[in-house]
Amino acid sequence: MSRLCSPVPRRLRQTWPLLGVLVLGLGSPQRGTFRGPAQQPDPKALFTKLCAVCHGQTGGGDGPAAAALTPRPASFARPEFQAARTDEQFTTAISAGKAPMPAFGKQLTLAEIRSLVAYVRALGRQAKKP
Ligand code: HEC
Repeated sequence: MSRLCSPVPRRLRQTWPLLGVLVLGLGSPQRGTFRGPAQQPDPKALFTKLCAVCHGQTGGGDGPAAAALTPRPASFARPEFQAARTDEQFTTAISAGKAPMPAFGKQLTLAEIRSLVAYVRALGRQAKKP
């Protein structure tokens, strides 16, 4: 063991903590940029980007494209709408589509779709408040 370690120059051994700081310093910006699968979905941003055009920003079923659709998207604020559907049905509708709503299963991860289902529920709860 010591035979293997001894050839390491003393100067290098003395500077290894410095190298550690360098590696951490170079590594940390990447953690922010390449977060990969651990990244938390942002349902509000997704909803604004992909869904609000039909469903409206607050899920009222009044997005700019809604008037041209048959059937029109329901208002997420309606308690009957929320009560009549399970989270599983929402997940399937968003993933596989429900005409005239397109399928989002190819462009969204399951985690993103689930976060959107929770967001649709939250929009329903918010709408009930005065
Ligand atoms: C092109 C317009 C359009 C877009 C874009 C759209 N939807 Fe829809 N969505 C509809 C319409 C229309 C319905 C009603 C379909 C029906 O009842 O047959 C609907 C229904 C739904 C339902 C209810 C499904 C059910 O079980 O009845 C949910 C939840 C939903 N959309 C969520 C979303 C989310 C989340 C997005 C964005 C990722 C999205 N929609 C994007 C038009 C759209």
